[in-house]
Amino acid sequence: MISGAPASGKGTQCEMIVQKFGVVHISTGDLLRAEVSAGTEIGNKAKEYMNSGRLVPDEIVTAMVMTRLSLEDVKEKGWLLDGYPRSSAQAESLEKLNIRPDVYIMLDVPDDILIDRCVGRRLDPLTGKIYHITNCPPDNEEIKARLVTRSDDTEEKVKSRLQIYKQNAEAVSSTYLDVLNKIDGNCPKEVVFEEISSVLSRLQKDKEESKPGK
Ligand code: AP5
Repeated sequence: MISGAPASGKGTQCEMIVQKFGVVHISTGDLLRAEVSAGTEIGNKAKEYMNSGRLVPDEIVTAMVMTRLSLEDVKEKGWLLDGYPRSSAQAESLEKLNIRPDVYIMLDVPDDILIDRCVGRRLDPLTGKIYHITNCPPDNEEIKARLVTRSDDTEEKVKSRLQIYKQNAEAVSSTYLDVLNKIDGNCPKEVVFEEISSVLSRLQKDKEESKPGK
């Protein structure tokens, strides 16, 4: 599981984790944005919450995550949950089903940096890749021309998302204290990834060694 405030770099790190470790990335933010774009019933319900930076009701998000977790690719490759659980009720839903992470990564970034990252973030609607107008711009004009800004990335909405994150963060992380890894997210993305990667590689090695017959 990967957690952290809005714009702490969860999505950016997930791209790199998936590339190296081949797990299935499940981002509730991405799943919800896809529902909104497709104009589904879930999307229509979620839209007003997302646009105002509030959490979408637990039952909608939990049902969506459970459906995704039950698919075959997840059983084969393992999962990487990004942005879920985000409330104590969501964490409880997973606990009841005995769904626990091997590691709970928490990205730590100061508030003023988070606001700048959100306001400067741009998304490529074609590839889903995340950019930033100054920290991480695209390397060609064609991509630059098609980038879009998320509707919840205004300074005002980011402040409200951050406040909601802070109200819930402790209740969620206290469920995973035994596997919690707090990582400094206020470094270049490659440096952050190196730290995450070393945690995951160690975990992978321990799992290999504990397999029967080893
Ligand atoms: P969601 O999409 O999950 O938004 P979020 O948690 O606010 O996180 P972000 O996507 O904003 O940021 P990120 O941490 O992924 O950062 P990123 O890598 O993009 O959720 C959106 C909404 O959906 C919620 O507000 C809610 O309404 C709803 N929702 C989602 N899950 C829910 C749930 N479980 N329950 C209820 N409602 C839910 O990076 C940000 C920027 O910083 C980018 O521009 C990037 O290039 C830059 N950057 C990244 N890393 C670095 C670095 N190391 N140095 C410099 N710049 C960096």
